Amino acid sequence: MFVGERDPFTGHQTTGHEWNGIKELNTPVPRPVYFFLITMGVFALAWTLLMPSWPYGSGYFKGLLGVDQKQAVAKSIEEATTGRAHWMTRIEEEDLLQIQSDTDLMHIVREDGRTLFGDNCAACHGANAKGNKGYPNIAQAPMLWGDDPQTVLQTVTVGINGTDPNTRVSQMLAFGRDGMLTKDQVSQLAGFVVSLSDPTTVTDNNKEDMAKGKDLFATNCVACHGNDAKGIVESGAPNLTDNHWTYGGGRGDIYQTIYSGRQGHMPSWGKRLTPAQIKIITLYLLDLRKQAVGPVTGGAS
Ligand code: HEC
Ligand code: HEC
Repeated sequence: MFVGERDPFTGHQTTGHEWNGIKELNTPVPRPVYFFLITMGVFALAWTLLMPSWPYGSGYFKGLLGVDQKQAVAKSIEEATTGRAHWMTRIEEEDLLQIQSDTDLMHIVREDGRTLFGDNCAACHGANAKGNKGYPNIAQAPMLWGDDPQTVLQTVTVGINGTDPNTRVSQMLAFGRDGMLTKDQVSQLAGFVVSLSDPTTVTDNNKEDMAKGKDLFATNCVACHGNDAKGIVESGAPNLTDNHWTYGGGRGDIYQTIYSGRQGHMPSWGKRLTPAQIKIITLYLLDLRKQAVGPVTGGAS
Protein backbone atom coordinates (compact mmCIF):
# COMPACT_ATOMS: atom_id res chain seq x y z
CA MET A 1 0.00 0.00 0.00
CA PHE A 2 1.18 3.44 -0.79
CA VAL A 3 2.02 5.39 2.34
CA GLY A 4 3.50 8.67 3.18
CA GLU A 5 2.93 11.11 0.40
CA ARG A 6 1.40 14.34 1.68
CA ASP A 7 -0.31 16.99 -0.28
CA PRO A 8 1.75 20.12 0.23
CA PHE A 9 -1.28 22.48 0.12
CA THR A 10 -3.78 20.80 2.47
CA GLY A 11 -1.42 18.73 4.59
CA HIS A 12 -3.58 15.60 3.97
CA GLN A 13 -2.07 12.32 2.92
CA THR A 14 -2.96 11.15 -0.54
CA THR A 15 -4.52 7.77 -1.36
CA GLY A 16 -1.89 7.15 -4.02
CA HIS A 17 -4.49 7.17 -6.78
CA GLU A 18 -3.66 9.50 -9.55
CA TRP A 19 -5.51 10.50 -12.69
CA ASN A 20 -3.72 12.62 -15.23
CA GLY A 21 -1.60 14.14 -12.51
CA ILE A 22 -4.50 14.78 -10.16
CA LYS A 23 -4.04 12.95 -6.87
CA GLU A 24 -6.82 11.88 -4.59
CA LEU A 25 -6.54 13.13 -1.01
CA ASN A 26 -7.18 10.69 1.80
CA THR A 27 -9.94 12.47 3.79
CA PRO A 28 -11.96 9.83 5.66
CA VAL A 29 -15.52 10.41 6.94
CA PRO A 30 -15.19 12.02 10.41
CA ARG A 31 -15.63 9.71 13.41
CA PRO A 32 -18.60 11.52 14.92
CA VAL A 33 -20.57 10.60 11.78
CA TYR A 34 -19.84 6.88 12.30
CA PHE A 35 -20.63 7.26 15.93
CA PHE A 36 -23.92 8.92 15.08
CA LEU A 37 -24.87 6.27 12.52
CA ILE A 38 -24.03 3.42 14.86
CA THR A 39 -25.95 4.97 17.74
CA MET A 40 -28.99 5.50 15.52
CA GLY A 41 -28.78 1.94 14.25
CA VAL A 42 -28.63 0.53 17.77
CA PHE A 43 -31.44 2.78 18.88
CA ALA A 44 -33.64 1.81 15.93
CA LEU A 45 -33.02 -1.88 16.56
CA ALA A 46 -33.76 -1.53 20.26
CA TRP A 47 -36.91 0.50 19.51
CA THR A 48 -38.30 -2.06 17.08
CA LEU A 49 -37.67 -4.75 19.68
CA LEU A 50 -39.23 -2.85 22.57
CA MET A 51 -42.18 -1.16 20.88
CA PRO A 52 -44.94 -2.50 18.61
CA SER A 53 -43.29 -2.62 15.19
CA TRP A 54 -43.01 -5.28 12.50
CA PRO A 55 -46.19 -6.36 10.78
CA TYR A 56 -46.67 -10.00 9.91
CA GLY A 57 -49.54 -11.94 8.36
CA SER A 58 -52.50 -11.24 10.57
CA GLY A 59 -50.94 -8.97 13.18
CA TYR A 60 -47.78 -7.23 14.24
CA PHE A 61 -44.90 -7.68 16.66
CA LYS A 62 -46.23 -6.23 19.94
CA GLY A 63 -42.84 -5.21 21.35
CA LEU A 64 -41.10 -6.39 24.52
CA LEU A 65 -42.46 -3.52 26.64
CA GLY A 66 -46.07 -4.33 25.78
CA VAL A 67 -46.89 -0.68 25.13
CA ASP A 68 -50.09 -0.30 23.11
CA GLN A 69 -51.55 3.11 22.40
CA LYS A 70 -54.83 1.66 21.19
CA GLN A 71 -55.20 -0.19 24.45
CA ALA A 72 -54.16 2.90 26.41
CA VAL A 73 -56.88 4.97 24.74
CA ALA A 74 -59.46 2.22 25.22
CA LYS A 75 -58.46 1.96 28.86
CA SER A 76 -58.76 5.68 29.55
CA ILE A 77 -62.14 5.76 27.79
CA GLU A 78 -63.23 2.81 29.90
CA GLU A 79 -62.03 4.54 33.06
CA ALA A 80 -63.91 7.67 32.13
CA THR A 81 -67.14 5.76 31.43
CA THR A 82 -66.98 3.72 34.61
CA GLY A 83 -66.26 6.96 36.49
CA ARG A 84 -69.29 8.53 34.83
CA ALA A 85 -71.45 5.49 35.33
CA HIS A 86 -70.57 5.65 38.99
CA TRP A 87 -71.68 9.30 39.20
CA MET A 88 -74.81 8.64 37.20
CA THR A 89 -75.80 5.72 39.43
CA ARG A 90 -75.40 7.95 42.47
CA ILE A 91 -77.49 10.69 40.86
CA GLU A 92 -80.17 8.14 39.97
CA GLU A 93 -80.25 6.61 43.44
CA GLU A 94 -79.74 9.48 45.84
CA ASP A 95 -82.52 11.88 46.65
CA LEU A 96 -82.42 15.51 45.62
CA LEU A 97 -81.40 16.91 49.00
CA GLN A 98 -78.56 14.41 49.32
CA ILE A 99 -77.23 15.36 45.89
CA GLN A 100 -77.54 19.07 46.68
CA SER A 101 -75.27 18.68 49.68
CA ASP A 102 -72.60 16.71 47.81
CA THR A 103 -70.06 19.02 46.16
CA ASP A 104 -68.73 16.34 43.77
CA LEU A 105 -72.19 15.44 42.50
CA MET A 106 -73.14 19.10 42.21
CA HIS A 107 -70.07 19.58 40.05
CA ILE A 108 -71.46 16.99 37.60
CA VAL A 109 -74.91 18.59 37.89
CA ARG A 110 -73.55 22.02 36.96
CA GLU A 111 -71.64 20.67 33.96
CA ASP A 112 -74.31 18.34 32.58
CA GLY A 113 -77.15 20.62 33.64
CA ARG A 114 -75.88 23.52 31.59
CA THR A 115 -75.84 21.38 28.43
CA LEU A 116 -79.19 19.74 29.13
CA PHE A 117 -80.79 23.08 29.90
CA GLY A 118 -79.29 24.60 26.76
CA ASP A 119 -80.58 21.74 24.60
CA ASN A 120 -84.07 21.42 26.06
CA CYS A 121 -85.17 24.50 27.94
CA ALA A 122 -83.29 27.52 26.64
CA ALA A 123 -85.43 27.83 23.50
CA CYS A 124 -88.33 29.02 25.65
CA HIS A 125 -86.78 30.13 28.93
CA GLY A 126 -83.60 31.70 27.51
CA ALA A 127 -80.02 30.49 27.98
CA ASN A 128 -79.83 32.18 31.39
CA ALA A 129 -83.33 30.91 32.34
CA LYS A 130 -84.50 34.50 32.72
CA GLY A 131 -87.39 33.99 30.35
CA ASN A 132 -89.00 35.83 27.49
CA LYS A 133 -92.43 37.33 27.19
CA GLY A 134 -94.83 34.42 27.63
CA TYR A 135 -92.13 32.26 29.19
CA PRO A 136 -91.46 32.84 32.86
CA ASN A 137 -88.16 33.88 34.35
CA ILE A 138 -87.44 30.60 36.13
CA ALA A 139 -84.08 31.86 37.40
CA GLN A 140 -85.70 34.50 39.60
CA ALA A 141 -89.50 34.63 39.59
CA PRO A 142 -91.41 32.69 42.24
CA MET A 143 -92.49 29.22 41.11
CA LEU A 144 -96.25 29.12 40.67
CA TRP A 145 -96.44 25.45 41.62
CA GLY A 146 -93.97 25.58 44.49
CA ASP A 147 -90.20 25.67 44.61
CA ASP A 148 -89.09 22.84 46.86
CA PRO A 149 -86.89 20.46 44.85
CA GLN A 150 -89.36 17.56 44.69
CA THR A 151 -92.16 19.86 43.48
CA VAL A 152 -90.04 21.46 40.78
CA LEU A 153 -88.96 17.99 39.66
CA GLN A 154 -92.62 17.02 39.42
CA THR A 155 -93.50 20.19 37.45
CA VAL A 156 -90.72 19.51 34.97
CA THR A 157 -91.72 15.85 34.67
CA VAL A 158 -95.46 16.33 34.05
CA GLY A 159 -95.40 19.81 32.50
CA ILE A 160 -98.06 22.51 32.64
CA ASN A 161 -101.03 22.07 30.32
CA GLY A 162 -98.84 19.38 28.79
CA THR A 163 -99.47 15.92 27.35
CA ASP A 164 -98.77 13.87 30.49
CA PRO A 165 -101.98 12.45 32.04
CA ASN A 166 -100.92 13.99 35.37
CA THR A 167 -99.92 17.32 33.87
CA ARG A 168 -100.48 20.43 35.93
CA VAL A 169 -103.45 22.27 34.51
CA SER A 170 -103.98 26.01 34.62
CA GLN A 171 -105.88 28.59 32.69
CA MET A 172 -106.40 32.27 32.97
CA LEU A 173 -109.89 32.84 31.56
CA ALA A 174 -110.66 35.17 28.65
CA PHE A 175 -113.00 37.47 30.57
CA GLY A 176 -113.37 40.03 27.80
CA ARG A 177 -113.40 37.87 24.70
CA ASP A 178 -115.78 35.36 26.25
CA GLY A 179 -118.20 38.11 27.25
CA MET A 180 -117.97 37.75 31.03
CA LEU A 181 -116.88 41.36 31.44
CA THR A 182 -117.21 44.51 29.37
CA LYS A 183 -114.19 46.35 28.00
CA ASP A 184 -114.67 49.05 30.62
CA GLN A 185 -114.68 46.49 33.37
CA VAL A 186 -111.54 44.83 31.97
CA SER A 187 -109.92 48.25 31.87
CA GLN A 188 -110.91 48.99 35.49
CA LEU A 189 -109.51 45.60 36.51
CA ALA A 190 -106.27 46.23 34.62
CA GLY A 191 -105.83 49.52 36.47
CA PHE A 192 -106.52 47.85 39.79
CA VAL A 193 -104.08 44.97 39.08
CA VAL A 194 -101.33 47.48 38.20
CA SER A 195 -101.94 49.26 41.49
CA LEU A 196 -101.39 46.03 43.42
CA SER A 197 -97.65 46.17 42.81
CA ASP A 198 -97.47 49.93 42.23
CA PRO A 199 -99.74 51.82 44.66
CA THR A 200 -98.52 55.16 43.30
CA THR A 201 -100.81 54.63 40.29
CA VAL A 202 -103.85 55.35 42.49
CA THR A 203 -104.72 59.05 42.16
CA ASP A 204 -107.65 61.26 43.10
CA ASN A 205 -108.80 61.13 39.46
CA ASN A 206 -109.02 57.35 39.17
CA LYS A 207 -110.09 56.46 42.71
CA GLU A 208 -113.59 55.52 41.56
CA ASP A 209 -112.38 53.24 38.79
CA MET A 210 -109.92 51.66 41.18
CA ALA A 211 -112.73 50.93 43.64
CA LYS A 212 -114.81 49.37 40.85
CA GLY A 213 -111.77 47.32 39.81
CA LYS A 214 -111.36 46.14 43.38
CA ASP A 215 -114.99 44.99 43.53
CA LEU A 216 -114.74 43.24 40.18
CA PHE A 217 -111.58 41.53 41.39
CA ALA A 218 -113.37 40.28 44.51
CA THR A 219 -116.17 38.78 42.45
CA ASN A 220 -114.24 37.40 39.49
CA CYS A 221 -110.64 36.77 40.40
CA VAL A 222 -110.11 35.79 44.02
CA ALA A 223 -111.26 32.20 43.44
CA CYS A 224 -107.99 31.56 41.63
CA HIS A 225 -105.69 34.42 42.66
CA GLY A 226 -106.73 34.49 46.33
CA ASN A 227 -108.36 37.16 48.52
CA ASP A 228 -105.06 38.98 48.87
CA ALA A 229 -104.24 38.49 45.14
CA LYS A 230 -101.09 36.66 46.17
CA GLY A 231 -101.87 33.62 44.08
CA ILE A 232 -103.06 30.10 44.85
CA VAL A 233 -100.64 27.32 44.19
CA GLU A 234 -103.27 24.66 43.43
CA SER A 235 -104.64 26.69 40.51
CA GLY A 236 -101.25 27.75 39.20
CA ALA A 237 -102.52 31.32 39.47
CA PRO A 238 -99.69 33.77 40.11
CA ASN A 239 -99.19 36.36 42.80
CA LEU A 240 -100.32 39.63 41.20
CA THR A 241 -98.72 41.86 43.85
CA ASP A 242 -95.01 40.98 43.49
CA ASN A 243 -94.25 42.71 40.19
CA HIS A 244 -93.10 39.46 38.52
CA TRP A 245 -94.88 39.03 35.21
CA THR A 246 -94.93 36.24 32.68
CA TYR A 247 -96.94 38.23 30.15
CA GLY A 248 -95.80 41.75 30.95
CA GLY A 249 -96.76 44.16 33.73
CA GLY A 250 -97.67 47.19 31.66
CA ARG A 251 -101.31 48.21 31.80
CA GLY A 252 -101.78 47.24 28.13
CA ASP A 253 -100.29 43.75 28.69
CA ILE A 254 -102.47 43.20 31.74
CA TYR A 255 -105.56 44.38 29.86
CA GLN A 256 -104.72 41.87 27.13
CA THR A 257 -104.26 39.08 29.72
CA ILE A 258 -107.67 39.73 31.29
CA TYR A 259 -109.43 40.30 27.97
CA SER A 260 -108.08 37.30 26.02
CA GLY A 261 -106.92 34.96 28.77
CA ARG A 262 -103.62 33.08 28.94
CA GLN A 263 -102.63 29.47 28.99
CA GLY A 264 -98.94 28.73 29.01
CA HIS A 265 -97.81 25.39 27.66
CA MET A 266 -94.86 23.87 29.40
CA PRO A 267 -94.00 20.50 27.81
CA SER A 268 -94.13 17.31 29.88
CA TRP A 269 -90.53 16.13 30.03
CA GLY A 270 -91.16 12.74 31.65
CA LYS A 271 -91.08 10.84 28.36
CA ARG A 272 -88.49 12.96 26.58
CA LEU A 273 -85.74 12.88 29.20
CA THR A 274 -84.52 10.13 31.53
CA PRO A 275 -85.30 10.44 35.26
CA ALA A 276 -81.60 11.16 35.90
CA GLN A 277 -81.59 13.93 33.30
CA ILE A 278 -84.69 15.52 34.84
CA LYS A 279 -83.02 15.34 38.26
CA ILE A 280 -79.91 17.01 36.89
CA ILE A 281 -81.89 19.78 35.14
CA THR A 282 -83.99 20.41 38.25
CA LEU A 283 -80.94 20.63 40.51
CA TYR A 284 -79.12 22.78 37.97
CA LEU A 285 -82.08 25.16 37.86
CA LEU A 286 -82.38 25.38 41.65
CA ASP A 287 -78.66 26.01 41.87
CA LEU A 288 -79.00 28.76 39.27
CA ARG A 289 -81.80 30.33 41.33
CA LYS A 290 -79.54 30.48 44.38
CA GLN A 291 -76.95 32.37 42.39
CA ALA A 292 -79.32 34.60 40.43
CA VAL A 293 -79.33 37.56 42.75
CA GLY A 294 -79.43 41.14 41.61
CA PRO A 295 -81.93 43.07 39.55
CA VAL A 296 -84.66 41.06 37.84
CA THR A 297 -84.24 41.42 34.10
CA GLY A 298 -85.71 39.89 30.97
CA GLY A 299 -89.09 40.22 29.33
CA ALA A 300 -90.72 37.92 31.82
CA SER A 301 -90.64 39.79 35.06
C1 HEC B 1 -92.09 25.17 24.56
C2 HEC B 1 -91.63 26.12 25.53
C3 HEC B 1 -91.02 25.57 26.81
C4 HEC B 1 -89.93 24.75 26.95
C5 HEC B 1 -89.11 24.12 25.85
C6 HEC B 1 -89.72 24.61 28.37
N1 HEC B 1 -90.64 25.33 29.06
FE1 HEC B 1 -90.76 25.53 31.08
N2 HEC B 1 -92.38 26.69 30.87
C7 HEC B 1 -92.96 27.08 29.69
C8 HEC B 1 -94.11 27.91 29.97
C9 HEC B 1 -95.03 28.56 28.93
C10 HEC B 1 -94.22 28.01 31.36
C11 HEC B 1 -95.30 28.77 32.14
C12 HEC B 1 -96.53 27.93 32.20
C13 HEC B 1 -97.63 28.58 32.96
O1 HEC B 1 -97.37 29.19 33.99
O2 HEC B 1 -98.77 28.46 32.52
C14 HEC B 1 -93.11 27.25 31.90
C15 HEC B 1 -92.85 27.12 33.23
C16 HEC B 1 -91.77 26.46 33.77
C17 HEC B 1 -91.48 26.39 35.18
C18 HEC B 1 -92.21 27.13 36.27
C19 HEC B 1 -93.13 26.30 37.03
C20 HEC B 1 -93.78 27.08 38.13
O3 HEC B 1 -94.06 26.44 39.16
O4 HEC B 1 -93.97 28.29 38.00
C21 HEC B 1 -90.36 25.62 35.31
C22 HEC B 1 -89.65 25.24 36.58
C23 HEC B 1 -89.97 25.21 33.99
N3 HEC B 1 -90.84 25.74 33.07
C24 HEC B 1 -88.87 24.44 33.71
C25 HEC B 1 -88.51 24.05 32.43
C26 HEC B 1 -87.41 23.17 32.16
C27 HEC B 1 -86.47 22.60 33.20
C28 HEC B 1 -87.36 23.00 30.82
C29 HEC B 1 -86.42 22.14 30.03
C30 HEC B 1 -86.39 20.74 30.38
C31 HEC B 1 -88.43 23.78 30.26
N4 HEC B 1 -89.11 24.40 31.26
C32 HEC B 1 -88.70 23.85 28.91
C33 HEC B 1 -92.53 26.75 28.43
C34 HEC B 1 -91.46 25.93 28.14
C1 HEC C 1 -109.79 29.95 36.74
C2 HEC C 1 -108.76 30.58 37.52
C3 HEC C 1 -108.48 32.03 37.28
C4 HEC C 1 -109.34 33.09 37.39
C5 HEC C 1 -110.82 33.06 37.75
C6 HEC C 1 -108.54 34.26 37.12
N1 HEC C 1 -107.26 33.92 36.84
FE1 HEC C 1 -105.78 35.19 36.34
N2 HEC C 1 -104.56 33.62 36.03
C7 HEC C 1 -104.87 32.31 36.25
C8 HEC C 1 -103.77 31.48 35.87
C9 HEC C 1 -103.72 29.97 35.97
C10 HEC C 1 -102.77 32.34 35.39
C11 HEC C 1 -101.41 31.93 34.85
C12 HEC C 1 -101.54 31.66 33.37
C13 HEC C 1 -100.22 31.28 32.76
O1 HEC C 1 -99.16 31.52 33.34
O2 HEC C 1 -100.26 30.76 31.64
C14 HEC C 1 -103.31 33.68 35.50
C15 HEC C 1 -102.61 34.79 35.13
C16 HEC C 1 -103.06 36.07 35.31
C17 HEC C 1 -102.32 37.25 34.97
C18 HEC C 1 -100.96 37.26 34.30
C19 HEC C 1 -99.83 37.31 35.28
C20 HEC C 1 -98.48 37.37 34.60
O3 HEC C 1 -97.54 36.90 35.23
O4 HEC C 1 -98.35 37.88 33.49
C21 HEC C 1 -103.09 38.32 35.31
C22 HEC C 1 -102.74 39.77 35.16
C23 HEC C 1 -104.31 37.79 35.85
N3 HEC C 1 -104.27 36.42 35.85
C24 HEC C 1 -105.36 38.57 36.30
C25 HEC C 1 -106.61 38.04 36.63
C26 HEC C 1 -107.75 38.84 36.89
C27 HEC C 1 -107.78 40.35 36.92
C28 HEC C 1 -108.79 37.99 37.09
C29 HEC C 1 -110.23 38.30 37.36
C30 HEC C 1 -110.89 39.02 36.31
C31 HEC C 1 -108.27 36.66 37.00
N4 HEC C 1 -106.96 36.72 36.70
C32 HEC C 1 -109.04 35.53 37.15
C33 HEC C 1 -106.06 31.81 36.74
C34 HEC C 1 -107.18 32.56 36.92
